[in-house]
Amino acid sequence: MERPHEVLLVALIATFAVIHLSRADDQEGFISLDCGLPPSEASPYIEPDTGLWFSSDSDFIQTGKIGKIDPSLPKTIKTYVTLRYFPDGIRNCYNLSVKQGTNYLMRFTALYGNYDGLNITPKFDVYVGPNFWVTIDLENKISGQSEEIIYIPRSNSLDLCLVKTGTTTPMITSVELRPLANDLYITESGLLKSFKRYYLTSSDTILSYPDDVKDRIWEPKFDPEWMQISTNLQANNSNDFLVPQNVLKTAAIPVNHTARFNISEELDFPDDQIYLYLHFSEVQSLPIGDSREFDIFWNGQQFDKTISPEYLKTTTIYSTTPVTCKGGVCNLELIRTTNSTLPPLLNAIELYTVVKFPQLETNENDVVAIQKIKARYGLNRITWQGDPCVPQKFLWDGLNCNSTDTSTPPMITYLNLSSNGLEGTIAAAIQNFTHLEKLDLSNNNLTGEVPEFLANMKSLILINLKKNNLIGFIPQALLDREKEGLQLFVDGEHRCFSGSCDVTEKKIPVKTVAFVSSATFMVIIVVLVLIFVFKKKKKSIKLGGNVTSTNISEISIEMKKKKYNYSEVMEMTKNLARPLGEGGFGVVYHGVINGSQQVAVKLLSQSSTQGYKEFKAEVRYRRNSVYVKPMRFMYAFIVLQVELLLRVHHINLVSLVGYCEERGHLALIYEYMSNGDLKHLLSGKHGSSVLKWSTRLQIAIDAALGLEYLHIGCRPPMVHRDVKSTNILLDEGFTAKLADFGLSRSFQLGGEFHVSTAVAGTPGYLDPESYRTGRLAELSDVYSFGIVLLEIITNQDVVDQTRKKSHIAEWTTFMLNRGDINGIMDPKLHGDYNSHSAWRALELAMLCANPSSENRPNMFQVVSELKECLTSEISMKGNSQDLDSQSFPKVSMSYDTQDFPSAR
Ligand SMILES: *[C@@H]1O[C@H](CO)[C@@H](O)[C@H](O)[C@H]1NC(C)=O
Ligand SMILES: *[C@@H]1O[C@H](CO)[C@@H](O)[C@H](O)[C@H]1NC(C)=O
Ligand SMILES: *[C@@H]1O[C@H](CO)[C@@H](O)[C@H](O)[C@H]1NC(C)=O
Ligand SMILES: *[C@@H]1O[C@H](CO)[C@@H](O)[C@H](O)[C@H]1NC(C)=O
Ligand SMILES: *[C@@H]1O[C@H](CO)[C@@H](O)[C@H](O)[C@H]1NC(C)=O
Ligand SMILES: *[C@@H]1O[C@H](CO)[C@@H](O)[C@H](O)[C@H]1NC(C)=O
Ligand SMILES: *[C@@H]1O[C@H](CO)[C@@H](O)[C@H](O)[C@H]1NC(C)=O
Ligand SMILES: *[C@@H]1O[C@H](CO)[C@@H](O)[C@H](O)[C@H]1NC(C)=O
Repeated sequence: MERPHEVLLVALIATFAVIHLSRADDQEGFISLDCGLPPSEASPYIEPDTGLWFSSDSDFIQTGKIGKIDPSLPKTIKTYVTLRYFPDGIRNCYNLSVKQGTNYLMRFTALYGNYDGLNITPKFDVYVGPNFWVTIDLENKISGQSEEIIYIPRSNSLDLCLVKTGTTTPMITSVELRPLANDLYITESGLLKSFKRYYLTSSDTILSYPDDVKDRIWEPKFDPEWMQISTNLQANNSNDFLVPQNVLKTAAIPVNHTARFNISEELDFPDDQIYLYLHFSEVQSLPIGDSREFDIFWNGQQFDKTISPEYLKTTTIYSTTPVTCKGGVCNLELIRTTNSTLPPLLNAIELYTVVKFPQLETNENDVVAIQKIKARYGLNRITWQGDPCVPQKFLWDGLNCNSTDTSTPPMITYLNLSSNGLEGTIAAAIQNFTHLEKLDLSNNNLTGEVPEFLANMKSLILINLKKNNLIGFIPQALLDREKEGLQLFVDGEHRCFSGSCDVTEKKIPVKTVAFVSSATFMVIIVVLVLIFVFKKKKKSIKLGGNVTSTNISEISIEMKKKKYNYSEVMEMTKNLARPLGEGGFGVVYHGVINGSQQVAVKLLSQSSTQGYKEFKAEVRYRRNSVYVKPMRFMYAFIVLQVELLLRVHHINLVSLVGYCEERGHLALIYEYMSNGDLKHLLSGKHGSSVLKWSTRLQIAIDAALGLEYLHIGCRPPMVHRDVKSTNILLDEGFTAKLADFGLSRSFQLGGEFHVSTAVAGTPGYLDPESYRTGRLAELSDVYSFGIVLLEIITNQDVVDQTRKKSHIAEWTTFMLNRGDINGIMDPKLHGDYNSHSAWRALELAMLCANPSSENRPNMFQVVSELKECLTSEISMKGNSQDLDSQSFPKVSMSYDTQDFPSAR
């Protein structure tokens, strides 16, 4: 029994849908906004008179207030109920989504309707993008003012701006956009603004949609000197202009059949240039022998063609060049030819004036970028509407542009977002400002690292990032730019550069946590394992708020660039032909990439996934020890670590060239250090020649520079935690580089969790005070460096149970106290050193290895002291022959051997 009902219902719905569809098709591309209509209130709705779909304007504007037209006004005026008015700001703009390059008829309507009860009609200006369009003055316009323009947007968004020019409040009732054919209503320059559009009829019907599929508004117009002729038949209106049938059904002819048919129009602005469009269609079937033929004169100039309109078929005649009308009065005359039997006829006229839009909009890339930045940081400044740069009087707060030349698109040259409470990372969109000269992001809450792309922005001459919560290094490339003259302002602690750091300015944050470098491998394994795991699961892990402010996808792009296939690894190592050594996590092989670059490939065996478990055990997290969470931590942690490893570039740090993870094959590719490690070189085994004293000093300086880079200028500073002679590697030019650095970074998850590891360093190099965390962790590195320096000077083993004093520092102290300075120096040097420089080095080493951390220098001081040693060594080299132990200064140091811990 229910079936027929259902069928009926379905049929009904189907019919309904068809009706809707056809309407929608008809109005394709139309934008019809009923301003001030609350979005919830039946938006969109069909306007009953026209069938046009209107919707609320609320999606296209963030500002303004909603007003309601005085309900006591006569009904004829209340075509609209609501409006939007703008009590705040000077310029308020709609951001309309349009199709770039489409020819639009755009209509702006304002109907005051005493919405505010003040009875003061507003007067204000309307701009399209950066260009003035029209002044709206509603005085004495009880039924409002409507303005039309034909405009081709240059991008997919169009700014329609209301600009306050006096004391009254700008307001708007509706905005309508109608796409037109692109080859119609063309002007040589500027744009066309509707001046008059009427059809010649004695009726009083205004025609628009749906009579006019393009929703042009045709006013009726008639004159006593005219006579109306008409037809009931449909005309062929299929020329491009698609003039409505009802316009073509009536026409006017002069009452005096022999007289001229003339029409004059007085312009609002006498100097306006004007374009004319005339539409003709013969409405009478002419008897044989009759003819209607006439010439058209426009301001006295004859159109080249004699017209004889066809029966029921549109002919449109229009001007292709603009004219100005003498005294601002334009004259049209239709004059019948001598052999025409009938007077001239005319159906409709359109007149357009030319408006100049001289100001080009701001460069589109810049606009997109600044919009991204606006959205990204949720900037809601009242001036940040419409075109960012122009007109200059409405330039957005905090911007500057080069906009002196209106014929080229202005570009943003200065971006000042200082003290705007910005949060998150430095927006990548900034790199799209190709002419940005000054960037000020100071005094915000920005987090994450200083992005490398800033260095690639060639136009930049000043960057201010002070007073933010940025972490990590300043990219080397940016520092290089600084050397070329870029003014770079960053908080002291962000500076990571060697040699010239102002240490006194340095603030070391409390939250530094040290990681022991032997965890490096583990971490990297975990990285790779996790990448592997996550790839398999195809799940994205969402990191809470400020887990990491660095964009993970950016990192993965960076990581992808450095990623190698297993087959590539096999190729670069010639199928693992040349092992270089073996470490705890796998074997290291020699390899070659890009034809000539030598690399060291650490291949991790399957069983090395053990490291993952170990690592997991090392991760400690406070407060909330829910077991599910470590994965999340580690992912965040790992992202930070890998990012760091791939980004840190310093001449005295061994760099990661790439990595491989493929079906359980894990490999890390490092730069190749052909001269092995320092310990090996000092040992003189494998036939390597004895290192000269000056070379040793240079190696010490290099290593110290690497360490200084880690300690000074980065927030949080990095602590190596495993400085030792086997971690100092030498390349073919004997440049020393620190290896296994860089995992000494802490990170905090949403302020709740603190991740750290506690893996022991290497016996003999361990600071007796052994600060693992806090600002003193760096001084533990200084201690280890002191031990390395002692190795360089003495060439003794760090721990040797066969010696009287097993620990190298104890032994040195013991020798010093005995006054046996010659016995301290490496006998392999055969006295070939300047004793002054040797003494200074020894003194420095002992200072670094001081059991009490407060007596130790920082790495900045170590570097400068070592540099002085080397200078004195070189300058006094000539005198070295006469020197013997006597030239050592008096031994004044005394060490309490009790203080030295026994090696662990
Ligand atoms: C303007 O509209 C375009 C297109 O809808 C959009 O991409 C852009 O973000 C908008 N701009 C603003 C300031 O809302
Ligand atoms: C209308 O005129 C055009 C040419 O102007 C012609 O191609 C078309 O066939 C005509 N349509 C009808 C219905 O006669
Ligand atoms: C009609 O116009 C012609 C030419 O302008 C003029 O000579 C004639 O007097 C006019 N006729 C009337 C009745 O006005
Ligand atoms: C047409 O022109 C004549 C003289 O040129 C003038 O007297 C008359 O008023 C004009 N008519 C219209 C409708 O402009
Ligand atoms: C009108 O006369 C001219 C010559 O005087 C002729 O060339 C033209 O074809 C004629 N027009 C019509 C419609 O007969
Ligand atoms: C802005 O500067 C750039 C580069 O100097 C130039 O290409 C562009 O034309 C300038 N624009 C204006 C409006 O001056
Ligand atoms: C940073 O954020 C904190 C709280 O989130 C706020 O108190 C502080 O004022 C902000 N600092 C700046 C410079 O905006
Ligand atoms: C920069 O502009 C290019 C081209 O317009 C665009 O593809 C890219 O996404 C933009 N980059 C950013 C970070 O906005």
